[in-house]
Order: sequence, then structure tokens, then C-alpha cells
Amino acid sequence: MQVVIVKNAEQAGQAVATLIAAQIYTKPDCVLGLATGSTPIPAYQTLIGMHKEGLLDFSKVKSYNLDEYVGISYEHECSYHRFMQDELFNHVNIKPENTHVPDGNAEDIPSTAAAYDAAIVAAGGIDLQLLGIGHNGHIGFNEPGSEFIYGCHKVELSQSTIEANTRFFDSEADVPRAAVTLGIGSIMNARQVVLVATGEGKAEAVRRSLEEDVSPMCQASILRTHPNAIFVLDEAAASKLSR
Ligand code: GLP
Repeated sequence: MQVVIVKNAEQAGQAVATLIAAQIYTKPDCVLGLATGSTPIPAYQTLIGMHKEGLLDFSKVKSYNLDEYVGISYEHECSYHRFMQDELFNHVNIKPENTHVPDGNAEDIPSTAAAYDAAIVAAGGIDLQLLGIGHNGHIGFNEPGSEFIYGCHKVELSQSTIEANTRFFDSEADVPRAAVTLGIGSIMNARQVVLVATGEGKAEAVRRSLEEDVSPMCQASILRTHPNAIFVLDEAAASKLSR
């Protein structure tokens, strides 16, 4: 477990983009696990810049996103399908058929979720899994609870997540109440995990993840047991760490 602390969100984005670029240089046909939310955006912007300068080729890269809301269309401006198009895929040369986002609108979510896990395994597993973190310590949409859930599954969102994500929607009532998320098993099976957290609002979740007991009440805490996990933090997100 490594913790890298940089000055601000922009530098965190550059650090994360460097790790992702190194993965693509090392293995051009790598499998990336990608994340949404506002925190990864600076990293995606840096990767887009590298691609536009001719430094980074996504033509063989495959990607599997962490999660998607249940019950909003892929075209909805807050859907994670749309987010990935807008923030990364439309600006680099990744092949559309190589990008994957869980299906939140499937009629039979348990079987499409199981197929999503199987597709990741068939692709050779995730080489680098990028993660943000929720204020309650969630990763993907794995909410605090009594257990770590292994596979891709449907989850009811906690009130704190609904409130945190209201900023992206017109009102709290518009925020979906459920999502499909990769499970903790799929995340832990990634060969490398990079969690990025920036801003004071994430400081308590970061402290609980790194300094309290490993517990499903703070799902990110399990990353401490991963053999190759890196937390990339800015000074504000690291501000509550005691060591
Ligand atoms: C959402 C996503 C997470 C993300 C988290 C934090 O709930 N499902 O994957 O890490 O929000 O988002 P942000 O980076 O916008 O704070």
C-alpha cells in the first residue's frame, strides 16, 4: 500500500495520468477499470492532452467502467455512459467496441451483472483499476454495510450518496435511487488499484480508509489488503491523516 501526497487536484490528476500512461506504455492492450465522478476529470484531461500530442495510443486499450445508475437513459447528461463519452472516450482513439459500462437499464440485472464480471475475466482481468471515493468511503457504488459484496450487483444508494450526487442533477428528487456497481471482488482482483481523492471533503473518508480497522462500513479500507494499491491524495484530502 502506497500513499502519494501532492499539492492540489491538478497535480493529483497528473500523477494518476502518469500511472495510467505507464500502464499503457508497458502493455498497450491493457485492460483499464475506469471511474466517474468529478475527481478523475483532471487525470482524464491530462491523458487527452498526452494523446493529442501524440504521446499516448489507446487503440488497443480495453476499458470496463465501475458503475452506472439504474433507470436513466445512456443519453442522460448524468449517466456514466455519457460521462465517459464526454470526458474521455470522444477525445482519444479508444475503440468504442473496447469500452464497457455496466448496464443499469437491463431487464435482468443479476444476469447482465454476472456477464459483466465474466467479460472482465475473459478479457484477462483488470490491469489498473482507477477509483474515486465517496464521502462515506464507498468505492464504485459499494455502500457502507455489513459485508463486502464480491461480484457486480445492483445496490440501493445511501441517503448520503444521493445528497452528494444531487449537485449533478436538477434536484435531489431526480437522483436515481439505485445503481449497478462492480463488486469488491472484481476491484480487488485488479493487478493494480489507484484511488484518487482530492479536497477537504474527502479527508475523513481517507482517514477512515487508511487509519481505522478494515471494515465494510468503510468499503475503501479493504484496499489496504491489496498487494499493489496506491492512494493519490492532495494535501487537503490527506489533512486528517495522523501518520
Ligand atoms: C460516485 C461514484 C464513485 C465516485 C464518487 C465520488 O458516487 N459512483 O465512483 O468515486 O461518486 O465522486 P466525486 O469524485 O465526484 O466526489
